[in-house]
Amino acid sequence: MKIKRILKWSVIVIALALLVWFQIAYWTSTNDYDRQTAAPNHPMKAIVYSDYGLSNLKLENIEKPTPNDDQILVKVRAASVNPYDWHFVEGTPKIMRAMGVGLRKPKDTRLGVDFAGTVEAVGKNVTQFKPGDEVFGGRGGAFAEYVCPRANRAVALKPANVTFEQAASVNIAGITALQAVRDKGKVQQGQKVLINGASGGVGTFAVQIAKSFGADVTGVCSTRNVDLVRSLGADHVIDYTKEDFAKGAERYDVILDNVPNHSLSECRRILNPNGKYVLIGGGGPNDSRWIGPFGRIIKTMVLSPFINQQMGMMMADANHDDLTILADMMQSGKMKAVIDRTYKLSEVPAAIAYLEEGHARGKVVITVE
Ligand SMILES: NC(=O)c1ccc[n+]([C@@H]2O[C@H](COP(=O)([O-])OP(=O)(O)OC[C@H]3O[C@@H](n4cnc5c(N)ncnc54)[C@H](OP(=O)(O)O)[C@@H]3O)[C@@H](O)[C@H]2O)c1
Repeated sequence: MKIKRILKWSVIVIALALLVWFQIAYWTSTNDYDRQTAAPNHPMKAIVYSDYGLSNLKLENIEKPTPNDDQILVKVRAASVNPYDWHFVEGTPKIMRAMGVGLRKPKDTRLGVDFAGTVEAVGKNVTQFKPGDEVFGGRGGAFAEYVCPRANRAVALKPANVTFEQAASVNIAGITALQAVRDKGKVQQGQKVLINGASGGVGTFAVQIAKSFGADVTGVCSTRNVDLVRSLGADHVIDYTKEDFAKGAERYDVILDNVPNHSLSECRRILNPNGKYVLIGGGGPNDSRWIGPFGRIIKTMVLSPFINQQMGMMMADANHDDLTILADMMQSGKMKAVIDRTYKLSEVPAAIAYLEEGHARGKVVITVE
């Protein structure tokens, strides 16, 4: 009886301590937005936000960054918007907030990743780039007039025949598509590949990349995008408003899933016995607001060891070498970015709101004057 009572009180004390810790962590969670009171000495325009929510995004003058010895200073000419950005704007799934993004307020007040622009200055250790080079890639805070990426990270030379808008579209969506097809799907010549969500940012690149690997590609999209997906090289297009791909008779070697709107068992049914299912997408801003795709990720991990089919998620890893592969594909005409709409830097909130609707056709681009 005594042990039972001790255990009961231990649980209560631990629960109370966790509650107090959470409350303190929540109310002390802040960012440096309110501390930046002095006018910047070398101002540049950038999108900043001090609290979660689209209505809190502002275009403000902040201090222009200075490259350190390993960085380059890039004058941004175009940026692009990804679902990644709205995850940070909305702070969803909410579990992200506890994983370091900021419990009550976003820790990082800057937004945007994908950029293309012109190198203005280089750090003293940088040998890969020089002032005047046209480059593209990814760096946090890209919704701004300038960014300072590290020269040996996610930045590469932009081919001369590719516009800044096209190049700015590539980093997250293009890298995701390439690594899904090549590294996770291990797509081989002649294999049947199904791409669910073929008309979005990732999907439009994935269709073209899978085709360049010699696959027989089936793209899934709505009626208005059927012609677009076919024009990108898809051999077959399934209009999801008329037909459910999971109920069809066709079997696939690889499924790239940008829109996890079918259960894993439905996906397994149309996968060959040794096929691969690659989970890419995590759903929209209103899907599973607390844990987002984590439930499905755990299910794939638990299931995978017990079956012959390979089920797994992917996390894109932006890097110089893969950006260079994608640049070569664009230069040679093997791949292009499909640009749906362009917005000005001041219109980033509208651009993100549009992407949040979940029906962009290819990429949404920000032009920076
Ligand atoms: N794991 C990673 O490393 C990684 C990296 C990048 C992106 N992602 C995730 O991958 C997903 C896709 O990213 P994205 O940039 O391609 O997003 P996106 O551009 O916003 O995708 C929009 C597209 O989704 C299509 N779609 C919506 N509902 C659909 C449905 N029921 N069936 C088929 N297609 C449907 C839309 O086509 P219609 O207009 O025809 O409906 C639209 O073209 C997102 O969840 C994103 O967070 C993950």
